[in-house]
Order: sequence, then C-alpha cells, then structure tokens
Amino acid sequence: PRKIIIDTDPGQDDAAAIMLALASPAELDVLGLTVVAGNVPLSMTSRNARIVCELAGRPDLPVYEGALKPLERPQVTAEHVHGKTGLDGAVVDEPVMPVKDQHAVDFIIETIRREPAGTVTLCTLGPQTNIALALQKAPDIAPRVRELVMMGGGFFEGGNITPAAEFNIYVDPQASKIVFASGIPIVMLPLDVTHQLLTTKARVARIAAIGSRPAKVMVDWLEFFERFDIEKYGSDGGPLHDPSVIAYLLKPELFSGRDCNVEIETASELTVGMSVIDWWRVTGRKPNAKVLRDVDADGFFALLTERLARL
Ligand code: BDR
Ligand code: CA
Repeated sequence: PRKIIIDTDPGQDDAAAIMLALASPAELDVLGLTVVAGNVPLSMTSRNARIVCELAGRPDLPVYEGALKPLERPQVTAEHVHGKTGLDGAVVDEPVMPVKDQHAVDFIIETIRREPAGTVTLCTLGPQTNIALALQKAPDIAPRVRELVMMGGGFFEGGNITPAAEFNIYVDPQASKIVFASGIPIVMLPLDVTHQLLTTKARVARIAAIGSRPAKVMVDWLEFFERFDIEKYGSDGGPLHDPSVIAYLLKPELFSGRDCNVEIETASELTVGMSVIDWWRVTGRKPNAKVLRDVDADGFFALLTERLARL
C-alpha cells in the first residue's frame, strides 16, 4: 500500500476523508494524522481527529498536534459551517486515545527522512501551515516526497470564504505559497471538483442504509454540515470537499484535469488567498501542479459508500 500522512483540521468532511482512508488498508497505509488549526482551533481539531480514529476502530493510529495558528495572518476559523466543536451534528464520546508527544512538524520531517525517498505522500485537508513549517525547517525533505495531494483553491468556481479565495488557502496563504514553490509534485482538488460532490438525499440514504455505527454518525455529520451550503448554494446537498483527496489516491480515473502553473496571492487584501491557476497557459510559467477540474460524482459516492461499509 501507498504510505500517506494526512494533515487535517476536522471538520465533518475531513472526518469522511479520514474514514475513507482507514477503510482502505489494501491501498493506503496511513502512517499518522497531523492536525492543524483550521475549521476550529487546534485543541478541537486534535480532539476531533481522535474521535474519528476511535469511531473507525483505529485508536492505535498516531495523532500529532501541529501549528496553533497561521504563519503570518491572524487566525480565521469556520464554526459557522462546522459548528462550535467542528464536528457538530452527532452525539459522540470524548476520545480516550492519547495524542503523541512529538510535534506534527517533526513527525513529518522524521518520517520523510526515514522512509525511502519517493514513497511518502502528503495529503492536506486544511490550511498548509504544518507542511510549510516542515519545509522551512528541513528543506531536504521536499525532493523526497512522492506527491502532495491537497484540497484547496478554486478557479472558475470562485471562492467560498471570499469571492476570490477558498478557505484552506485563505487561512494561511503564506504557507500555501511555500508549498507551491517547493518543487513537490502537487495534485490539487479545488472547489471546481468538490462543488460537484453534492451530498444529495439519495446518496446520504445509501450511506445510512449501511446501518453501522460509523455510518450512522457520518450521516448525522453530513446532514449537519450540508445545512449551511444548501442554504448558500440552493442545491440538493452540500459539497463534500476533503474525501476527494483520498478518492483520488484510490481511483484517480474518477478525476480529470491538467498540469498548470499555480501561484498564491498573498499581497492584495481583496484577493488574498486566491489560487491563480494558469489553466489556459497564458503565461510562460512552468506547471507546478496537476489541477483537477472534473469528477465522476456517482463513482465517487459509490466508492465512499462501499468503503464506509467495511468499517
Ligand atoms: C475546506 O474548508 C473546510 O471548511 C473544509 O473542511 C475543507 O477542507 C473547503 O473549502
Ligand atoms: Ca478540512
């Protein structure tokens, strides 16, 4: 199986991504979860990551706490979407599994140095502060990373936290700028993809039909999470962002896109955090990311449902 580290700020959709990964051990070897401040403060994302591990039957999975706040900008959170805890919507026990003593940034560095070069994939589901800190502290890790697959950004679809910016990049644009300049092969899942992944009633009903405890909790989380976006977008269901990263690793044939140059705006207050994607190759700038734009949404939900049923 492919070795991955999941860097995350759970979040209901992060929870779905983590569960999809943990339900797929034949393809994915999750070396650890690293948590970052994002949807909610770090103490809550750490708690939430452990709730998800326990729910998925993996209290042994190492969870490492990382950055408390973005590199430069003041912290921004998204309780208006995810609720006060970040995982509102379901009644769950407080986690009992411990958090690791080691800092997430040091775990990332150590793991990439220890494992053979070109074997560790980084999955980022939140602001990229931990990855940027690791790259700053240990620039030697960049050429050793196999790939970085991220949920973030948006182009034809616009932004979701400002008209120009998607939340994960908006929260820490300085960090994303470092990531995009790192030379690591990047695969980007922007809002253009995730806004096609709607948790329609029919799709959620198929997850509910699994009948297991993890599936029930997931349905409660999804129904809470989508309420905000249904109102906002007037759609049947909300966009399920973060599991797209894991689904891409499991079934890349569900997605299509192209290699582009991507730069991150950090200066203008109006468009800060914008991912400037040269889709039409109007500049001579070298491609630094594979930007995905389309997805087989039914194929994605079939995969998610089939895997959740294994937990
Ligand atoms: C991203 O922001 C968060 O609210 C979600 O968990 C997802 O990672 C979508 O913009
Ligand atoms: Ca997230």
